[in-house]
Amino acid sequence: MSNIVIIGTQWGDEGKGKIVDHLAEFADIVVRFQGGNNAGHTMVIKGKQFISHLVPSGILQGKKCYLGNGMVIDPDVLIEEMDELTKNGIDVSPEKLKISEKAHIIMPYHKMLDKAREEMKGDKKIGTTGRGIGPCYEDKATRRGIRFVDLIDPNVFKEKVNAIIEEKNFYLKDFLKSETINPMHIIDEYSNYAKRLAPHAVNISVAMSQGIKKNNKILFEGAQGTHLDIDHGTYPYVTSSNTVAGNACNGAGVGPKDITGVVGIVKAYTTRVGAGPFPAELFDEIGDRIQEKGAEFGATTGRRRRCGWLDTVLLRNAVRLNSPTGFVITKLDVLGGLEFLKICTHYEFQGKQIDEVPASLKALAECKPVYETFPSWSEDISHIRKYEDLPQNTKNYLKRIEELTDVPIQLISVGPGREETIVIENPFQ
Ligand code: GDP
Ligand code: IMO
Ligand code: MG
Repeated sequence: MSNIVIIGTQWGDEGKGKIVDHLAEFADIVVRFQGGNNAGHTMVIKGKQFISHLVPSGILQGKKCYLGNGMVIDPDVLIEEMDELTKNGIDVSPEKLKISEKAHIIMPYHKMLDKAREEMKGDKKIGTTGRGIGPCYEDKATRRGIRFVDLIDPNVFKEKVNAIIEEKNFYLKDFLKSETINPMHIIDEYSNYAKRLAPHAVNISVAMSQGIKKNNKILFEGAQGTHLDIDHGTYPYVTSSNTVAGNACNGAGVGPKDITGVVGIVKAYTTRVGAGPFPAELFDEIGDRIQEKGAEFGATTGRRRRCGWLDTVLLRNAVRLNSPTGFVITKLDVLGGLEFLKICTHYEFQGKQIDEVPASLKALAECKPVYETFPSWSEDISHIRKYEDLPQNTKNYLKRIEELTDVPIQLISVGPGREETIVIENPFQ
């Protein structure tokens, strides 16, 4: 049995999509277990870029892909993505792509509420993706959500929409001073989505257990990153789901014994989109150079990503929270050519050294990063495929990450392309 969870260790956009695509070659099933189309996972195959928001990144390797019960799904976006994949000759038939009956459905009012609330918050806004993620998880928790199984039953769907719309419209109109929604429009629009997507419905737990019995290899694809986790992240500047590895079980309907490994994806530096504290953030020309060379623009919203040095306080927090069996270092090529590199080893808070991410946002905002400085390398490393061939300074940087986190590096990514990868140890073996 070899079933691996892939998670982001920072604030998302670590390159999970590229690594899931790379490792999917060795897998039979790829399953997304949380989040929705707030995610933007980029894969580059033979120079062609694919961005997936909902469909698991294993689809390009022709693997079976499941959308887990822990996800929130905007059916319109899913259909658009499926159509785009079909245009590119990728099979998204119900044999390949399955949707958990228990996944929650993003409704038009979720998107409107997300946007209107953010607008109302002014400069206190979280900087959400505006995709309705928070309001949809909110309805799930208050037991008023609409699941995929409800969407594909016309009577249940109608009943559920009619039961909730009055309250949503009241909130939109009277509190958020926003437009209201005609329930008939939703029912019409969503009945088309239901017809199209119904053949993809699956009992995910049963499907996963059948795969496990057949000794299928499974990749659990995480979205966002550890520090965007609703419990463990920099709350309230987080997303609305659990992004840590433990949620792979919940969000895909399997037990913890079915997981054999956890791979943490680590970008060689740190980025963040949206608001919230970021101790190792760079506000200088070096930050701009990393942003430009790394093409750090959000794959979902196109926003410029904030950039900073690698922060091992965050990484050690991610190690505690996810118990990774290995790390993948991505975007290492981006750091070449800088005069020097820095790694944040700990924070200084009120005159003391600390090694944890404080729960209080006020305290985190006061934390000053303490750095070790390293010489960089000038060589282009994007063509390198063997660890031994990396420049000594690059190896020193990687060694220090391993020392500071106590996690072995299994893969190194030196470019966006599927093959621009150095394999030290295949997590599936
Ligand atoms: P995800 O959300 O974790 O899947 O990451 P994103 O796709 O949002 O962002 C990662 C970006 O970096 C994408 O544009 C990738 O194509 C790109 N990328 C991934 N790995 C590498 C790498 O090793 N080097 C470079 N230069 N780009 C990479
Ligand atoms: P991937 O999977 C980076 C951020 C948003 C915002 C906060 C809450 O591509 O790594 P939400 O719309 O989820 O309510 O927004 O979370 N965010 C991400 N940042 N990568 C992501 O996904 C993200 N998904 C959400 O920018 O700060
Ligand atoms: Mg992304």
